[in-house]
Amino acid sequence: MTVVGSDTERLARADNTEPLLVVKDLKTHFQIDAGLVKAVDGVSLEIERGKTLGIVGESGSGKTVLSRSIMRLNIANNVINTGSIMYDGEELITKSSKQMQKLWGVEMAMVFQDPMTSLNPVVRVGRQLTEHLRYHLGVGKPEARSTAIELLRSVKIPEPESRIDNYPHEMSGGMRQRVCIAIALACGPKMLFADEPTTALDVTVQHQILNLLATQQRDRFMTMIMVTHDLGVVAGRADEIAVMYAGKIAEKAPTGTLFSDMRHPYTQALLWSIPKVSQPKHTRLSAIAGRPPDLINPPMGCSFSPRCPYAQDKCREEEPPLVAGSTPGHQFACWYPVGSKENEEAYAKNLADGVAVTLAAEGKIRATEELTAEVIADIAELDDSVIDVSDSVDEGDS
Ligand SMILES: Nc1ncnc2c1ncn2[C@@H]1O[C@H](COP(=O)(O)OP(=O)(O)OP(=O)(O)O)[C@@H](O)[C@H]1O
Ligand code: SF4
Ligand SMILES: [Mg+2]
Repeated sequence: MTVVGSDTERLARADNTEPLLVVKDLKTHFQIDAGLVKAVDGVSLEIERGKTLGIVGESGSGKTVLSRSIMRLNIANNVINTGSIMYDGEELITKSSKQMQKLWGVEMAMVFQDPMTSLNPVVRVGRQLTEHLRYHLGVGKPEARSTAIELLRSVKIPEPESRIDNYPHEMSGGMRQRVCIAIALACGPKMLFADEPTTALDVTVQHQILNLLATQQRDRFMTMIMVTHDLGVVAGRADEIAVMYAGKIAEKAPTGTLFSDMRHPYTQALLWSIPKVSQPKHTRLSAIAGRPPDLINPPMGCSFSPRCPYAQDKCREEEPPLVAGSTPGHQFACWYPVGSKENEEAYAKNLADGVAVTLAAEGKIRATEELTAEVIADIAELDDSVIDVSDSVDEGDS
């Protein structure tokens, strides 16, 4: 059985060198009374098997809609879905919900932000797991129960033989999220979507859960999409990062390249907003100036222009295309990319003109290099300092 990720299954997955997922020009638009919400607007990406792609962006940038669209969970009368989603050689965009049901859980699964909304509060966690196993894998009750106990053990739930009979409210937040991960992993999916899986948890438990996901992903040779608003969360964990803004990819690169050679001003602004371990307690995070754009009537040209310290007239008139950077796999969409001579000139001009967002970004721009090094050091330090104690301690939320 594949549910606990056998070596044979893992090796078979690793043998296949074709990308597991190839998305081309994916659009998800919602028709509502106020107009057409272009939540995902022409996204293309591909993920190799066994790799993790981090999708990063502020609230409302389209991360969840993109993940749900790839899983074809956004099927309603007011949803317009176009483009192509090739999953393991199969086109998903034309599949009905009924056809997709065969893939959900078994091929692809999702861990959501809030475990309390994905678990049924009046059903014991064991039953929620065993029903899932029995439905998808057709196993009998005793086998489903013993597999469920093994799954709970594999996600480091202490004393799974008794915990299996708990109701969700009898567990801590971290433990509930472990149960959700166990449910998502139950049928051995090839692809796991983790949509802000730790936002509702405190910082220590966050790291335990992120480390657990990374271990499971590696042991099972799963392909993972990790969605987050925090560039720091994916910095040490994703192979590649796609930065989303207003339903589009602003920049995409292998993780190392993104940090050493970021070109998009929005990526740079996200970097400024990462909390640092070295900051004194209660330091205010550097929020990105302005608000994300209206997705029904986005600004003309580059949608980041009202908030960008480098914006010029061209930015407000013409939308920048996604172009290749100098490193393989690096793409960005910007007329005056960070690190270029044009960018320096645009910045100097805006400073001289007293443009408010440029003045506000002054100190931060100069500190970008230091911040990059600091963030990478912080992540290594946090990973070293967090010890997974869930095997020996009855985990609480604080
Ligand atoms: N069913 C829907 N109908 C209309 N608009 C929608 C629908 N679902 C999402 N949207 C809009 O699509 C945009 C993108 O939403 P999405 O949930 O993907 O953002 P997100 O990046 O995941 O944000 P967050 O970090 O807050 O989770 C938002 O403006 C949202 O209001
Ligand atoms: S410099 Fe121009 S094109 Fe680049 S992000 Fe800023 S506004 Fe957009
Ligand atoms: Mg979301």
